[in-house]
Amino acid sequence: MSLSGTLMKPKEKTDSLDVIPTHVAIIMDGNGRWALSRGLPRMAGHRAGTENLRSIIQACIEFGIRYLTIYAFSTENWGRPPTEVQGLMKLFESVIDRELQELHDQGVQLRHIGRLDGLKPAFRQKVLQALEYTCDNDRLILNIAFNYGGRDEIVCTIQRIIEDGVKADEVTTDLVKRYLFTSGVPDPDLIIRTAGELRGSNFLIWQGAYSEWYFPPVYWPDFDKEQLRLALDEYSHRERRYGCLAGVKD
Ligand code: FPP
Repeated sequence: MSLSGTLMKPKEKTDSLDVIPTHVAIIMDGNGRWALSRGLPRMAGHRAGTENLRSIIQACIEFGIRYLTIYAFSTENWGRPPTEVQGLMKLFESVIDRELQELHDQGVQLRHIGRLDGLKPAFRQKVLQALEYTCDNDRLILNIAFNYGGRDEIVCTIQRIIEDGVKADEVTTDLVKRYLFTSGVPDPDLIIRTAGELRGSNFLIWQGAYSEWYFPPVYWPDFDKEQLRLALDEYSHRERRYGCLAGVKD
């Protein structure tokens, strides 16, 4: 007997977004290439990427997405040329100064995942104040992965579990989840990586175990609301099985 007869058929393709993911995560790749392709310095790409982030946050709110996680700066990004690292730090700081009030007015709660140690004290203070300022908002939870690495997160999680004296047989999947930087946040349903690279780059490696991935062939500054709609449309036609066989009954 053919197996295909026993499996649930994939949903018919429609234009409607009938399944909106609760949590979307984005690897905002391609700023540098976007700039170089226009004969501009790489930092111009990061500035354009920042402008684009503002419209994608707005679009997420309009689509009814509850959690957005963005990969802003990885633990590996410190290895970039010092001028680019310094430029990015200045850019992040100026974004907090410029955008915080508007984000707050839109009902966005800022959260941070990653390590804040190693940052300049004034910058760290500014980040902590921004998190505190927006902590009661709940229209969109914006998790900013900054100085973040998935392996580093797991190491940090193990360290804290051991420090708390948890016994080996008390370590469960649920317990580990509670110690991750993303504690309290549902796993991402959809992870988008722009700019064509087909890899995960140390992003949400625990949380992304059953995420759907989507790789649009556009640089991050060109990933607009229509591109996001296409990603959501694609997602709404995926069949998520979590290792099981959907539609197969005893
Ligand atoms: C990848 O482009 C992007 C980053 C390293 C992160 C920086 C992201 C932004 C500036 C967007 C705005 C974010 C915030 C929080 C304000 P890349 O340099 O790796 O591009 P390439 O692969 O083309 O070189």
